[in-house]
Amino acid sequence: MFVSSSIAAPAFSIRELIAPFRKPYLRYLAGSVLRQILLVVGGYSVVWTLRFCLRRPEISVWWVVPALIAFDGLYVGLDTALNALFARHISFPLFGNLRATALEKMFHMPLEWHQRETSGALVAKVNNGVGRVVQTAEAVSRELCPALIRTGLNLVPLLYFSLVTAPVLLGSVLIFGWLTVIENSKRRSFRRERHQHYVRDSGVFSEYVQSVQTIVQFGQTHRLLDSYGQLQRQIMDGGLAEMQIAYTYGVRKNMVLSAGKRTCQALWIWQMQRGHLDVATLMYLNMLTEELLSSFWNYAGLLERIYEDLEPARILIEMLEAHPAINDPAGALPVEVPGAVGIDLINVRFSYARGRQVVRNVSLSIEQGTIVGVVGRSGSGKSTLHHLVSRLFDIEHGELLVAGTDVRQWPLEQLRGVFASVTQSGGVFLSGVTILDTIRFGRPQASAAEAESVARCACIHDDIERMSDGYLTPVLQGGANLSKGQQQRIALAQTLLALTGDRKVLVLDEFTSQLDSETEARILRNLRPWLAGRTALIIAHRLSTVREFADRIVVLQDGAVADEGKHQELVDRNPWYAEVARFQANSTTPVA
Ligand SMILES: Nc1ncnc2c1ncn2[C@@H]1O[C@H](COP(=O)(O)OP(=O)(O)OP(=O)(O)O)[C@@H](O)[C@H]1O
Ligand SMILES: [Mg+2]
Repeated sequence: MFVSSSIAAPAFSIRELIAPFRKPYLRYLAGSVLRQILLVVGGYSVVWTLRFCLRRPEISVWWVVPALIAFDGLYVGLDTALNALFARHISFPLFGNLRATALEKMFHMPLEWHQRETSGALVAKVNNGVGRVVQTAEAVSRELCPALIRTGLNLVPLLYFSLVTAPVLLGSVLIFGWLTVIENSKRRSFRRERHQHYVRDSGVFSEYVQSVQTIVQFGQTHRLLDSYGQLQRQIMDGGLAEMQIAYTYGVRKNMVLSAGKRTCQALWIWQMQRGHLDVATLMYLNMLTEELLSSFWNYAGLLERIYEDLEPARILIEMLEAHPAINDPAGALPVEVPGAVGIDLINVRFSYARGRQVVRNVSLSIEQGTIVGVVGRSGSGKSTLHHLVSRLFDIEHGELLVAGTDVRQWPLEQLRGVFASVTQSGGVFLSGVTILDTIRFGRPQASAAEAESVARCACIHDDIERMSDGYLTPVLQGGANLSKGQQQRIALAQTLLALTGDRKVLVLDEFTSQLDSETEARILRNLRPWLAGRTALIIAHRLSTVREFADRIVVLQDGAVADEGKHQELVDRNPWYAEVARFQANSTTPVA
């Protein structure tokens, strides 16, 4: 029943999501009707017992008790079976399905979308939304439906024995329902705002937690606590205003029910005085009316919970319905991946959402089996080129071909499967996973010997050997128990290990920026056999990183190709490049 993971972004459909639950739900509803009938019959059995014992005083009441207990047992058995059916076939699978769908959605949404949302807010939307959808399903199925059935069944004897009370009850119900609807419509905007605040709260909270060390070091805890306090005050003010509406309508609804109940009681006494009701029936009717009127309160409380649950559920569904801007092309067929893959950018232009153009008319060819280095000032658009080739963002203008096929014609999963990259933000470090499995993240089936071999190439093997459990040492969240340089070397090892099969193009974005020059030199030496005959894009600030291998070096300036050539050619003719080369020759500090 759980959703399988595939890169083809599925359109989220509530209809499909609930389809597997239809049959068990119908079974549950049928069982619920039976359960409520047993309940009403059980209530009426007191009247029946009383009448029977009054009529036949010679029969001891104790003979009837076992039959009544057996009847109660039947009810309890059915109730337990229905609850088990609901949990096994509806609530748990619904919870799991929704969360898996949400995670799948996260994987498919483009980078731009993720950058707009904070991770804390996303987690809150999913956590609250999924929890509340399940709660709503439970409230409707396990409380509202049975309560409605019971009310309907209770009304039958009530109207049968005392039809005269019908207009009173009906009037009370209508006024009560009308007040409930008005109350909730008045509270809706408060509720909506409150839930938006909750999402913001989670986003802010998790951002602060992620940056806790820096916040404390800058001594900014009081300022952030103040602004967090303001958010809490907004939540409280809105909540109190909403409660005020609830109180006002609560009093009105109470008075309506009280007037209804007292009028009914007066009517029964009047009926009894005329000999139309006996004491047993009056007691029974009183019990039914008490139950009926108090069930209105239950309805109101239930409706309030459902309204309250619907808001986070709406936020979740809105998120699940978001369409990824970057998707598989309709009817995309797999591309025949050649032995070596070339990349061509022709007059490519690109800007991030509503921003200025960060790639301006870039034309660049990375021929099969060649290595191109990209250098340029910080912010000149180097990493953006990396994002574009694997279609993390779509270009605005021009053409981008991978192995001669437009990236928009490639099935997304296949296109991304052509690249093995070290991103500037480093590798993947999932908490609790051993170093060995962290290295094998991109190719879990690789052997330990293969993992060790890439670790040696990335000059991280000795560091790992010195760790408490060697390759079996677990990683902490985000690689917190590793130095930045170690993280970077493990990221390189992850990438090298993944470089098999169709993953033919290597992209290295600032992959040595955290390393000392000596370690960098050793890694560059080790990389030589890996790079022989391979298509690669190497992005770096340090010229030493690219001049080692690059067949051609491209200088990016403000999103445009300012120059390209071999290292020495650029030193001779490009003033910026020559300046950087001179500076770096005299210093080991990376130039920004
Ligand atoms: N997600 C984004 N949304 C909006 N603008 C962005 C985004 N990512 C980068 N930019 C902007 O695009 C420009 C190019 O950024 P890019 O990361 O490609 O630079 P870079 O050359 O890799 O820089 P660095 O050497 O510092 O890594 C910068 O001006 C940056 O502010
Ligand atoms: Mg960059």
